[in-house]
Amino acid sequence: PVRFVPSARRRSLIDQTFHRGRCGRTDRLTSEPSNVVRVSHPLVDHHLSVVRCETTCPAEFRAAVHRLTMLISVPATDHLPTDRVQIQTPVAMADCRRINADVGLVPVLRAGLGMVDPVLQILPDASVWHLGMYRNEETAQPVGYYDKLPNGSPPDVAMILDPMLATGGSIDLVVRRLQRWGVGDIRVLSIIAAKPGIERIAKDFPDVKIFVAAIDPELNEHAFIVPGLGDAGDRIFDTP
Ligand code: PRP
Repeated sequence: PVRFVPSARRRSLIDQTFHRGRCGRTDRLTSEPSNVVRVSHPLVDHHLSVVRCETTCPAEFRAAVHRLTMLISVPATDHLPTDRVQIQTPVAMADCRRINADVGLVPVLRAGLGMVDPVLQILPDASVWHLGMYRNEETAQPVGYYDKLPNGSPPDVAMILDPMLATGGSIDLVVRRLQRWGVGDIRVLSIIAAKPGIERIAKDFPDVKIFVAAIDPELNEHAFIVPGLGDAGDRIFDTP
């Protein structure tokens, strides 16, 4: 049998094609797990500099989270199923496509709330399911405090919204809850993730896709992302 062995140049072309999103470039650095997409675009770089800056005021911080979420949402909604439809334009009939998927957004309270509106702007028919969780400051372990997800009829696709993925403990809990609900297609949208957290989720849930604007190298002794942006929930809601 003849085996197809791509040349180095062809491999590079395949790689570039595979990682190129429809709006902006999406990169997988060679050291990143295959289910992680870092959205790479000058606008992402720009707005990241705003959320990282310690002197950014809450109003500007919220606006930058909003803009970054929109930029991440485009690649994160790639491959949603669509149906062919015939549409009458003012001139003639046109072949079009419409989304045919039940999408549920799952913001993780509190910080995830800052990402709901921008996703709803591009997916206005999505439903929103809230999960409440905070990290114990001493142990860095997630503590669940709100969950009204039903047991039956899960959405086709669940998009978990949380600006920060640090140790990955919170996302781990959310993914397990959604799997218990019966969701098959789970996607995580985050602004900044730490490498250890990303690797943990990728290892434990290889089918879960993670879309991020930045991957920071490490966590400090308090399990904060370094350099990160501080505490997204506190900066969105202007709480100390
Ligand atoms: C932050 C963040 C994530 C979690 C990330 O929430 O928004 O939910 O910590 O950490 P992990 O990956 O180590 O689990 P926080 O506890 O600050 O709650 P808040 O959103 O109410 O501010």
